[in-house]
Amino acid sequence: MGQLKLSKVQKFYGTYEVLKGIELEVQNGEFVVFVGPSGCGKSTLLRMIAGLDETTAGDIVIDGKRVNDLPPVKRGIAMVFQSYALYPHMSVFENIAFPLRVEKMPEDKLKARVEHAARILHLDQRLQQKPGMLSGGQRQRVAIGRAIVREPKIFLFDEPLSNLDAALRADMRIELAKLHRQLKATMIYVTHDQVEAMTMADRIVVLNAGEIAQTGAPLELYHKPANVFVAGFIGHPKMNFLPVVCTGVNDAGVEVDYRGHTARIPVVPRGSMAGRTLTLGVRPEHVQTGAADLTLTVTPSVIERLGAHTVAYASLGGEGENYCAMLPGNIAIRADQQVLTGIRAGDCHLFDENGTAFERRVKMTDLDMSLFDPAVA
Ligand SMILES: Nc1ncnc2c1ncn2[C@@H]1O[C@H](COP(=O)(O)OP(=O)(O)OP(=O)(O)O)[C@@H](O)[C@H]1O
Ligand SMILES: [Mg+2]
Repeated sequence: MGQLKLSKVQKFYGTYEVLKGIELEVQNGEFVVFVGPSGCGKSTLLRMIAGLDETTAGDIVIDGKRVNDLPPVKRGIAMVFQSYALYPHMSVFENIAFPLRVEKMPEDKLKARVEHAARILHLDQRLQQKPGMLSGGQRQRVAIGRAIVREPKIFLFDEPLSNLDAALRADMRIELAKLHRQLKATMIYVTHDQVEAMTMADRIVVLNAGEIAQTGAPLELYHKPANVFVAGFIGHPKMNFLPVVCTGVNDAGVEVDYRGHTARIPVVPRGSMAGRTLTLGVRPEHVQTGAADLTLTVTPSVIERLGAHTVAYASLGGEGENYCAMLPGNIAIRADQQVLTGIRAGDCHLFDENGTAFERRVKMTDLDMSLFDPAVA
């Protein structure tokens, strides 16, 4: 078992409220990722679950038991940090075995546990080496091995891959996803890298300034962000935000005007709509060349050729009205030359004056879920 429940969890440093009443349930075996900008409270929350930081108020419950007053070793959790914190003079075997030596586990049982973890992590040929002889990725695997041998109910990871180079990070991401499938353990993983969050999580918790901005499956957050913050945080390049005025509501949705261009956005209206200033959200990957429901002529100032895609950056004139389009790799466009771009209304997001999203009329079932349909398989 490895079930976690946080109720009204608060953290103050002096008078500064770092976490503002976090409510969250993590199911047994779930891979949950906490993501958010630097300073939003991710590490603090993880350390409170681990028992390394005191909880100012609220309850932390693991498998039905309130653990606020339990020391870290009694909580059934193991934590892996960004810094591997390996002992340089000890072999890989002894580094992995360390927590079991502290527990005074009998030698044969200890050896079996370490060898099992080493096999899972492909470290079985390295057990006699010292950490100094290993690559960054291998060292991080030793640190993970030290967590695995404790057979915790819950694994906690705090940015474990951020010391690795991009290629190794991508490899380790896949390794960790495999490890999760293999161990079927509950894992809570902190990162500010939204690619890690999107690729590894069963469920993502987006934190903003000590509060949960939204919780959901990766594609749920991508297709139905609850607010401007999540919309801007999930997705790369970042969503474009354009100020629009609502001109009315009809069966097709909410009609908006952007500098004389109108489009009907298929979202559910709330309250009286006409005349309000709203924010239209458009993902760069949903901008195409040629006319569509909302057509804008733009002059990119910078073009980035990435091979698979071409990213064009333009200013739409108004302050902060930057516009980014992700276009096909070989598209014939140049900086400082006009290009006609179009956006389909069904791809747009709409937010109110407070940044709260209007519910989109796209259903998750409109996505291509055929691969997951047992009738198709
Ligand atoms: N020991 C401390 N004393 C006072 N303030 C602290 C302490 N530890 C953290 N903070 C503050 O709490 C806030 C949250 O910090 P935390 O380390 O949880 O952020 P984070 O989301 O993990 O950020 P990062 O992505 O940079 O690691 C920050 O504003 C930080 O300055
Ligand atoms: Mg942190």
